[in-house]
Amino acid sequence: MHITGMQSPRGVWWKPAHKTEKIWFTIAFAWCMVLFAMMPLWHLKGGQNPTGIRHRVEPADYRDRVNEFIAEHQVGTEAGIPVVEPPPGSDVYLLGMMWQWRPILRLQAGAEYTLHLSSVDVNHGFNLYPFNVNFQVVPGYDYGLRVTPTEPGEFGIVCNEFCGVGHHMMVGRVIVVDPATGRADALPADPAGAAVDELVAMGGER
Ligand code: CUA
Repeated sequence: MHITGMQSPRGVWWKPAHKTEKIWFTIAFAWCMVLFAMMPLWHLKGGQNPTGIRHRVEPADYRDRVNEFIAEHQVGTEAGIPVVEPPPGSDVYLLGMMWQWRPILRLQAGAEYTLHLSSVDVNHGFNLYPFNVNFQVVPGYDYGLRVTPTEPGEFGIVCNEFCGVGHHMMVGRVIVVDPATGRADALPADPAGAAVDELVAMGGER
């Protein structure tokens, strides 16, 4: 007989599936459904990828808003960067720009703030050091996060998105004070330096 593409070739795949194949298919399908359910569950319960508040914003308007915020709540200056102490519960603005974070934030432990992040030039990365807290800082978008600092201390902000020749110098600071004492010395002022000291104490070399 002349075989053409119109005729089914002889084969075995239209026979009913074997029992073991059905079992494995069922297991694979059930696991797919588990992973599918994990996506929304992890979003809601996992404490990761928090839902932010996003708004479009003109970079120049954001810069003006940050300057207004600094003028309202400035309490000092460190190395040319203003230090601000906004009241608990308020909106807090942080600006990423080539190559600095403005301003230095002084917050109270245990108080909730809405932290706004945006950039006026290129993409930057907000990384709260020494924690693994990372957010994209994108020009044109105001990204708001509800945050509650839990422990007093001085924390670094490192840019983790390559943004030009000064990228490695783009470090900022968040100071969290104990509302009772107004002090931030629950943690060493320089966590990286303290870690090195600890290493030296353990017999390592600096
Ligand atoms: Cu900003 Cu790297």
